[in-house]
Parts: sequence; structure tokens; C-alpha cells
Amino acid sequence: MTTILVTGATGTIGRHLVSALAGTGFDVRALVRDPDRAALPGGVEVVRGDLTSPQSLKAALRGVERVYLMWPGIPADPRAVEAIAEHARHMVYLSTDVADLADGERATSFHQEIERQIRASGRAWTFLRAIDFATNTLGWADQIRQGVVRWPYGRASRSLIHERDIADVASLVLTSDGHEGARYVLTGPESITHAEQVRIIGEAVGREVRWEDLPPETARAQLTAAWGNPAFVEARLAAWRSFVDTPERVTDTVERLLGRPARTFRSWAHDHADDFR
Ligand SMILES: NC(=O)c1ccc[n+]([C@@H]2O[C@H](COP(=O)([O-])OP(=O)(O)OC[C@H]3O[C@@H](n4cnc5c(N)ncnc54)[C@H](OP(=O)(O)O)[C@@H]3O)[C@@H](O)[C@H]2O)c1
Repeated sequence: MTTILVTGATGTIGRHLVSALAGTGFDVRALVRDPDRAALPGGVEVVRGDLTSPQSLKAALRGVERVYLMWPGIPADPRAVEAIAEHARHMVYLSTDVADLADGERATSFHQEIERQIRASGRAWTFLRAIDFATNTLGWADQIRQGVVRWPYGRASRSLIHERDIADVASLVLTSDGHEGARYVLTGPESITHAEQVRIIGEAVGREVRWEDLPPETARAQLTAAWGNPAFVEARLAAWRSFVDTPERVTDTVERLLGRPARTFRSWAHDHADDFR
């Protein structure tokens, strides 16, 4: 029986992935740092391990054929990918919409670096290059409850993706053949402005929520104070600014792979209405 290891199994994607894999006939093993707090479905083998400590991964990797790899926001560590490559013949990595690195080119993000390490591992791989998750809008929850969202670039148009679509694609790729070497760019089915996202969430919650455009310089100061990473804030602001004139691209990859349309932002908002109440 093929064993699939899911890292980040308690996270946004991993939790849905573990559920999607249950019932596929494959043995599902979940890597978590604290099994007592994992609360995963029955039938899933829960094993303790920490990606920052390759030694700790040994038990989780024993007999594993395929691995779903999620890298938490920490510096890339080649020892983890090396440890996985010793056991697994196929790594499915949750990446983001990064460009391919040319030989010798410096990685500008941990996603690019992990992709490079995986490609160098000699094992089969598939990259799930996901556009921003719709769950990022949960960051507006407090403002939605107050009835007004103050944020920059209301006309920035994004193709946010439902986390369950990423999990469904990951499940398919982990349980079927023909995905080796694929770099799948995963997006939602349409591009929707920030202001429209807020209106749709308001509709799902059953209250009117106003949008107020925050000047970029005010947003820069507020987000830097909140996120503590000026370079990240700058990159976000630049991306949002670019999506005002050029809406973020939409791919048909989810529909092509799953044989059904990607979930809409409206359906995401309904699934999460209680999170905004
Ligand atoms: N948010 C977006 O818009 C977006 C878009 C594209 C790509 N991504 C990428 O998606 C990834 C995050 O995935 P996610 O949202 O599903 O996860 P998440 O909800 O952020 O949860 C983090 C997961 O990482 C695990 N974890 C944290 N530190 C760990 C460690 N040292 N060793 C082992 N596990 C550890 C946690 O497990 P335990 O605490 O249970 O151990 C938890 O399951 C990141 O690489 C992010 O860059 C995000």
C-alpha cells in the first residue's frame, strides 16, 4: 500500500488535503509538531516531526513514497529536502507564483530556493504554484465586523483561490500519475477587486460593509507596524498597484485537472461567513 506523507497537516491547505486523501485507498500519514493538538480525522497516522530538524523526520518518512511538502515561513534548509529525497520518490511542493530560476541565479524567496533544492534532489516533483489564498482576506475580519474596510488599492483585481481547490489538486497529484515535472499555476476562476471582495463578504455575512481607500503611504506605515517586514510590505503594495491596471491572471488549471470549475470567491465567502461574524 502506498503511503503519502502530508506536512503542514494542521495548516490551511494540509487540513483539507488530509480529509481529501482519506478514502482514496492510500495510507495517509501526517507530520505535526504536537500530535496531542493536531485533531486530525481518524484513519490518519499522526507522527511527530519538525522540518527544522531533519533527524526528527525519520519516523515520519519511513516507507513513504510520496510527500506533500509545505514549507513554513522560515529560511529554506536543504537538509529537510535531502532527508525527504532519501525516502520519497515524488515530492509535491506547495509553492507560490514564482519564476523559474536559471542555473546559478540567486533565489529571491524561500519558495524559489526550495523549488531549486527539490529539482536538484533527483526525485520526481510537482510544483503547485498557488496564487494568494482567499483565506488572506480573513485579515479584514475585524474591520468587516466594524462595517468598514480601510485598505489600499480598492481597484486592485485579484484571482484569489479557495484553499479547498488547492487541497483537491494536491490530492489528485498525490494519488495519480502523469504530474511529474509539472508547474501548476493555481488561481481562482475570476479576478475580483479588493472593494468587490469586501462587498461579497458583506453579502455572505448579511451586513453592509463599506470600502475606504487607504492612501498607500498610510498603508505602508500601518502594514509595516503590523507585519514587521518592510520588504514584504513594499512587495505587496507594488503587486496590488500593478493589479489596478492589469488584473491578476486567471488560469484554467484547477478546472483542467479536476474536471469542474474552480470555486468562486462568493462560495468561499459563504463557506467562511461565520469567521467574519
Ligand atoms: N497565504 C497565501 O496566500 C499563500 C499563497 C501561496 C503559497 N503560500 C505558502 O503556503 C505555505 C503555508 O501553507 P498553509 O497556509 O497551508 O499553512 P499554515 O496554515 O500557514 O500552517 C502552517 C503549518 O506549518 C506547520 N509548521 C510550522 N512550523 C513547522 C515546522 N518547523 N516543522 C513542521 N511543520 C511546521 C504547522 O504545523 P504544526 O504547528 O501543527 O506543527 C502548520 O500545519 C507557505 O509556504 C506559504 O508561503 C501561501
